[in-house]
Parts: sequence; structure tokens; C-alpha cells
Amino acid sequence: MTASSTHSARSSAQASPDAPLAVDAAGIAFANPILLAAGTAGYGRELASVVALEKLGGIVTKAVSVAPRDGAPAPRVAEFGGGMINAIGLANPGLESVRSEHLPWLLAHLAGAPTRVIVNVVGSTVEDFATVIAGIEDAAARTSGARAGPDAWELNVSCPNVRAGGMEFGADPATLRAVVTGARAVTRRPLFVKLSPALADIAGAARTAVDAGADGLTLVNTVPGLVVDVERRAPALGFGTGGVSGAAILPVGVLATWKVSRALPGVPIIGVGGVASATDALQYVLAGATLVAIGTAAMREPRLPERIVADLRRWCEAHGTTVRQLVGTLEWPA
Ligand SMILES: Cc1cc2nc3c(=O)[nH]c(=O)nc-3n(C[C@H](O)[C@H](O)[C@H](O)COP(=O)(O)O)c2cc1C
Repeated sequence: MTASSTHSARSSAQASPDAPLAVDAAGIAFANPILLAAGTAGYGRELASVVALEKLGGIVTKAVSVAPRDGAPAPRVAEFGGGMINAIGLANPGLESVRSEHLPWLLAHLAGAPTRVIVNVVGSTVEDFATVIAGIEDAAARTSGARAGPDAWELNVSCPNVRAGGMEFGADPATLRAVVTGARAVTRRPLFVKLSPALADIAGAARTAVDAGADGLTLVNTVPGLVVDVERRAPALGFGTGGVSGAAILPVGVLATWKVSRALPGVPIIGVGGVASATDALQYVLAGATLVAIGTAAMREPRLPERIVADLRRWCEAHGTTVRQLVGTLEWPA
């Protein structure tokens, strides 16, 4: 694909720029800002009979690694008062199966719909990220039709639930730079880098990613945590520790979004963590996110994201504004 064909494919998006919810991020037009978060919606197929994917701004797929991964031992998820803890261990069917089966199904299902597809990529080595992306690009180049490949990539350098290739990729600037540079070299599609809120300097890591060629950031991944089953005197999860998601991390994600949007004005952010209502999504938007992804709340209630789109539209109409106008307009106390 040439740079000009990539550009025209993106600018011919079906989202109307005048609609109250339409937004642009990294050169892609989205009909609305609401996405399904990585790992909580599979590759769309499992959900398609229940959820009207065409009404959403986009879907971020489950992680894709070079080889299939079995993931962490059971139990892999546990609930607690503030949400959920999980250690899935990035279980996924691997590059070959995703590019020949899962992704073509999702792109065909969404043909003619404005819903964007972002593929979440993970690796056990620095090189794995570029291998996955190049592998899917290869398959896309051999496919005809308007939707031959995804609209963007999301690099998961922030998973707390694996023994190798997790959070340390995002925490070490040299490794982060190498992952993003490697990915940048094999694709023209936008790259979002997903960071952990546990980083000591999340704005610094975001800057490293953007300097290495990232187009945008996804903030945040789950927060490392431990839930104890007191009867067994053992961790609730088979892996031991896990990643905390849901309501408990909403303020954590909003703060990360605010910090990074202030440090890197104009760089698009996908805000994610604890969103369960339109007002939660608006918190991210005001803090600087252009797009907002929903995970845990949508696993509990799959049609919630559609309702949030409708509620967001009503809110914008009632306030005579648009999402575009709201991004980053948080007013800090003097
Ligand atoms: C069961 C589960 C699986 C997840 N898998 C992935 C994944 O494959 N890649 C990734 O980057 N994030 C993954 N995440 C993190 C979510 O995309 C999201 O960042 C996090 O759950 C916070 O959002 P939430 O509070 O709305 O769930 C997963 C989260 C959960 C709960």
C-alpha cells in the first residue's frame, strides 16, 4: 500500500465530521469515540450475535502473539468490590490463525460499517511485535477489497500477567524505543502504544514512544494487584498476582490521561480503565482522550457500550457541544 492510498482510504471514512460524536485520531475518522477494549471482546466473533458492533467507534482485538499461547493457569479472573482482577496470560490463537481466520472474519463482518478495527499486539521479545505486524501486513497486501487490513495497531507493552514480555517492555526506555522503532519500520498504519499506570513516569514513557514513531497512546492497562482467597489462604488467581480493572481504576486512568495529554498536546489518546457510563467516558475526554475504550463493564453487560454511545450523543446535544470540542478542556483549579 502506498502512502497516498493509505491516506485516501482513511480520509474516505464514512463518519460525518458534523456529527456530535465524530472524532479523528492519528488520521483515522471514527463515527464515535467508544471502543471495545483489548482482550475483553475477543476478535469480535463471539460478541457479534449480541452486540451491534457497527454502532461502536471501534473494536480493539485481543492480543496477538507470534505463536499461539495457552495463557495462565485457572482461575484466570476473580471479582472484588471495585471491579475485577485477571491473569489471562495473553492466551491467544497466534499470528497464523488470527491473520487467516479471525481478522478476515471481523473485517468482512464490518465491511460497509464505519467501525474501526485496531489489532492489539504482544511479544515475548522486542522483535515479536514487528513479526506480528509484518505478518498481518503481508496477508493484507495479498487481499483485495476495501478492508484488507486493520485500521491501526495497539502495542501492548504493559501486561502485568506474564513472566516475560510484559510491563518491563514499557518500563525500560531503550526497550520501549526498540519495540516501537521495529514496529514503525514494517507498517504505515497508525501505532498506538499502551502503557501501564504503574510506570513511575508515564509521561516520560509516552514521550519515548512518540519520539520512536508512535502516533498515539492508550492509557491505561490494568493495575498490578493481588486478591487473596482467605479460606484457602492463597491468591484468588492461578497465576498469583493479576491486573486490576473496572471501577477501581477509573481515577487512575483519568489521571494518566491528563498527565500525558498535558505533556504531549495534540497526540491522540485512547482512554481506558473503569468506564461504565457516558459521564465516565466524558471524564477521559475532558482529561484529553479522543477515544475511550470499555472493557470490564462491557464483559458484564455486553450492550452497555451501545448505550453509552446513545447517552453521549444525548449529553452533547443537551449541552450544545461535540466530543471534538470537549477533548482536553478540563479546567484545573487555580
Ligand atoms: C479479561 C481481560 C483481558 C485483557 N486482555 C488484554 C489484552 O489482550 N491486551 C491488552 O492490551 N489489554 C488487555 N486487557 C486490559 C484492557 O484492555 C483494559 O486496558 C483494562 O481492563 C482496563 O479497562 P476496564 O477497566 O474498562 O476493563 C485485558 C483486560 C481484561 C479484564
